[in-house]
Amino acid sequence: MIKALIIIAIILGFYLLHRLCLWLEANGWIYYINKKAENGTLGSTLQELNALLNPSVRHTIEMKQNQVVVRRNEAGSPEELMSTDEGKKYDLIASGFAEMRDSFSTEQKYIDLLIDHLKPNANILDVGCGSGFPIASYLIEHGFQVTGVDSSKKLLKIAEDKCPLMQPIFGDIRSVGINQKFDAIVEWWCLFHLPKEDHAKMIARFASWLKKGGILEFTTGDSEYQESSSTMLNQELNFYSLNPDIYEKYLKDNGFKLLLRESDQEQHLVWLAKRDLK
Ligand SMILES: C[S@@+](CC[C@H](N)C(=O)[O-])C[C@H]1O[C@@H](n2cnc3c(N)ncnc32)[C@H](O)[C@@H]1O
Repeated sequence: MIKALIIIAIILGFYLLHRLCLWLEANGWIYYINKKAENGTLGSTLQELNALLNPSVRHTIEMKQNQVVVRRNEAGSPEELMSTDEGKKYDLIASGFAEMRDSFSTEQKYIDLLIDHLKPNANILDVGCGSGFPIASYLIEHGFQVTGVDSSKKLLKIAEDKCPLMQPIFGDIRSVGINQKFDAIVEWWCLFHLPKEDHAKMIARFASWLKKGGILEFTTGDSEYQESSSTMLNQELNFYSLNPDIYEKYLKDNGFKLLLRESDQEQHLVWLAKRDLK
């Protein structure tokens, strides 16, 4: 009898410890060493068990200043920060981001490659255009008509000044209605903000926005990953990529012919594909 009570007490003790850990984690007092809790995630029993069995992900008491801080500024409420639409987070850092993103790094070579495939005056959709600078503005300088779609109102507002000839569309690229067909689409550093399950849908959407024979240029990671980082102006942002072979399959499934798959910098791939004529 006493043995049974001791066992029940131990189990109850573990359960209470588990709940306490979740509560501490939710309040930012502890987190996993290698597995930082995502926004809005309280963890799960399986993770807790894993944490007990595998020391590399054990809960660790940390000083409170290491917790994720809810940023206070123009854009809004903590609920907005938990959205999977990273555009709202870009609202929080819009002016800093626009200032930082004032010149090309590796892109120019690839934008020129895209241009080589286009007729003068072609119309181009810039997906996740940000402030329109430097990509949309470069394309406009080259005589193209550019429409930019982005879910950061603040970046689109900056684009009105910096890149006034770009036609802006505000919206989440996964759901926004775009009833126009383009000669080309350029997407640079935007797809990687969408959860992995949205990537197949986006390749299909790109195909639906292109004219037959249209060109798609987009960027991804060079391997499958999922992480969150606050290295960009201290804003916690999510990053995802699939295995590159999966993008090749999605392209094929959507009638694209692959023209280029090249690494322009560490962990990053640039893709160029043509929507087949069939
Ligand atoms: C790293 S910035 C890149 C901006 C621009 N393409 C460039 O090369 O400078 C990512 C952009 O994607 C936008 N974005 C992220 N998620 C989005 C979504 N679901 N729908 C529309 N835009 C999104 C952000 O607002 C931001 O402007």
